[in-house]
Amino acid sequence: MEPFPLRDGAIHCEDVPLPLIAREVGTPVFVYSSSKMRSQARELRAALAALDDPLIAYAVKANPNAALLTTLAAEGLGADVVSIGEYRRARAAGIPADRIVFSGVGKTAAEMREALAGGLCQFNLESLPEAEMLSDVATAMGRTAPVAFRVNPDVEAGSHAKISTGAAHNKFGIPIDQAPAACARVRDLPGLALQGLAVHIGSQLTSLAPLEAAFAKVGAMIAELRAQGHAIRTADLGGGLGIRYDPSLPPPPSPNDYGAMVARATRDWKVRLIFEPGRLIVGEAGALLTEVIRVKPGPKYPFVILDAAMNDLMRPTLYDAWHAIDAVAPKRERVVADVVGPICETGDTFATSRSMERVEAGDLMIIRTAGAYAATMAGTYNSRPLAPEVLVDGAEWAVVRERRDVDAFLRDETLPPWLERRD
Ligand code: LLP
Repeated sequence: MEPFPLRDGAIHCEDVPLPLIAREVGTPVFVYSSSKMRSQARELRAALAALDDPLIAYAVKANPNAALLTTLAAEGLGADVVSIGEYRRARAAGIPADRIVFSGVGKTAAEMREALAGGLCQFNLESLPEAEMLSDVATAMGRTAPVAFRVNPDVEAGSHAKISTGAAHNKFGIPIDQAPAACARVRDLPGLALQGLAVHIGSQLTSLAPLEAAFAKVGAMIAELRAQGHAIRTADLGGGLGIRYDPSLPPPPSPNDYGAMVARATRDWKVRLIFEPGRLIVGEAGALLTEVIRVKPGPKYPFVILDAAMNDLMRPTLYDAWHAIDAVAPKRERVVADVVGPICETGDTFATSRSMERVEAGDLMIIRTAGAYAATMAGTYNSRPLAPEVLVDGAEWAVVRERRDVDAFLRDETLPPWLERRD
């Protein structure tokens, strides 16, 4: 489905005109389509239907908003969490404990304790020191922690270097050839029960080949571990499936292509498969709605200065990411422009030499495909409050995160006793 259709001269989110949201909530604001999230979740579930009881654990980091999580919980999704904050969000959204996997290289003892007490499907361990810490935590609580080892298969994901995670030099997982020794050690640790392996080689993958190569190595390792007497019951295949940011590029593999590859690659594994999709579920369901502050003449192209900035959407400056940017009410006149935010850095650029609709001060624009890794990565640089978030469902809409006012910065900060406040 198209979450942001152009209808009657203006882009809508589902059935709600974006100018209405801009008028009532102000800009910049993130707008999300419930139907798009649901249809993505259902498409992936259908694509994995041939598997025996797969667990689809939504990667909360992609967008942790409570309203989105609650929508996805109602679709039966579990959660992949990487902090106790995400764990609490998942539980608060009604995601059952046994559908939660806890990933991440730096889990603390306090996080382990709380997640173990609250319950979960498994901890995905990333090192032996972590395994030892978790065993100590679990033993002190009189519990046994269900664990999987995340292996690093040493494959190049072919994505941006900052979001590739499966090469030997990346910090993630244990080198796959060390898995037998690590699992043998885990067997000796009293607080742990090994139940599986996990792998995640990167994000925004546009080819299935590196995933298939990684899964082949995991399959071989499952057989080797079983031969050593380990009961391997789960395999967590991570997330990573890319989505379409630039409509002029070939589409990435579909959930169906992915499902078929997984079914083939895991045919005789005899495990429960776990998936951790983030971007695929929410990426296309969101957009950043923004207003043009002014158009400034430039040496070659004009600068379109938006009221959204790199603090709201870091992906372009952080990963050179390409996002479609469209006028909400197109005038059907094209120009070439640089699209920038008001922040005092040249990196505060959303697009350069971009062919786009002509816009002027006061016009609304959307930066598309901003449902994943956008609001969740936002900051307050230049003392810009976090942008609010709106969730749409058909003709209904609601603010699901309020705009903080600028005074909140002053309220949150205190002066030390040796500095006098001058009111
Ligand atoms: N599982 C693990 C262990 C992960 O580290 C990640 C993402 C996922 C699952 C979900 O991956 P996805 O299905 O969303 O590709 N901020 C970057 C993306 C960072 C991804 C981090 N890990 C961006 O904006 O592109």
